[in-house]
Amino acid sequence: MQLDQILQEALSAVAGAEDLASLDAVRVAYMGKKGKVTGLLKELGTLPADERPQAGQQINELKLKINLAIDERKLVLEQFAMQSKLSATSVDVTLPGRGINLGSMHPVTKIRFMLEDYFKGLGFSVVEGPEVEDDFHNFAALNIPEHHPARAMQDTFYFADGRVLRTHTSPVQIRSMRASKPPYRLIAPGRVYRCDSDVTHTPMFHQVEGLMIDENISMANLKAILTRFLQVLFEQPIKLRFRSSYFPFTEPSAEVDMQCTKCSGAGCRICKNTGWLEVLGCGMVHPKVLDNCNIDSEKYTGWAFGLGIDRLAMLRYNIPDLRMLFENDLRFISQF
Ligand code: DAH
Repeated sequence: MQLDQILQEALSAVAGAEDLASLDAVRVAYMGKKGKVTGLLKELGTLPADERPQAGQQINELKLKINLAIDERKLVLEQFAMQSKLSATSVDVTLPGRGINLGSMHPVTKIRFMLEDYFKGLGFSVVEGPEVEDDFHNFAALNIPEHHPARAMQDTFYFADGRVLRTHTSPVQIRSMRASKPPYRLIAPGRVYRCDSDVTHTPMFHQVEGLMIDENISMANLKAILTRFLQVLFEQPIKLRFRSSYFPFTEPSAEVDMQCTKCSGAGCRICKNTGWLEVLGCGMVHPKVLDNCNIDSEKYTGWAFGLGIDRLAMLRYNIPDLRMLFENDLRFISQF
């Protein structure tokens, strides 16, 4: 009778255990060193000898039943624990993926890379020069004399020591020519600075300088190279117009206009109704510039050009305002 009662108590304690820890507490309460069932076994010795075998068998059966109940409950509770752990860290595999955001290239960089690829294909090398320049490379060696208006304080950012933020990429011509012997075929892309800011001007902008010096080089070479470049860039044939102009470092000098890509020459807002867009300055490198670089100007001739990369990027990608290029608004730059 007493055994039956213990069994009932034990079974309901097992069934009532809500987690593995309380189930273990039940096990200890019955099967542990001081547990109830263990106590019964210890009392066996106090029974008369003839009752011992039967009593022993009954206690063992009790022990078996309780252990079985504990094992079953344990399985259930383990499942439970596993499930609650899984649902706490659930992954909804039906949700759409977040996707990967790849960066995109800045339109100015894209045009620069296109220029570099094109000119490399023609055997030109790509060189760079410092953005902080001295007077000699930025002005004097380029035949821009001391009182030339291009040096005016309004245009040029001067440092206290007389150095400048380069106002064009042309000083790279000087550095390259003074560093090695002719022939030269190079382009020099990079940042340039002028004290200027409005809808079509920013204090920093990008140019690429081109230089080709060898024996028997003429402007016809330049025209062919530029015509082909614009065709590659705009993916359509584009008419060019060489307009005579003046630069101190070239003679003769020209400005090159391309037919307006928007209206094909009919006249529109972009080209101010002229049908033409100015894209670069160029000319035959002035003998004085060659002299300044210790190059025999009787033997060697060649052309140079300076082109605005930002302007080309605006035309190529229909960007209405130059300043958008430099505001770093992700909504804008991630479109390219
Ligand atoms: N350096 C000139 C500028 O920034 C552009 C230029 C014109 C570069 C004619 C040249 C050139 O190499 O031949 O306005």
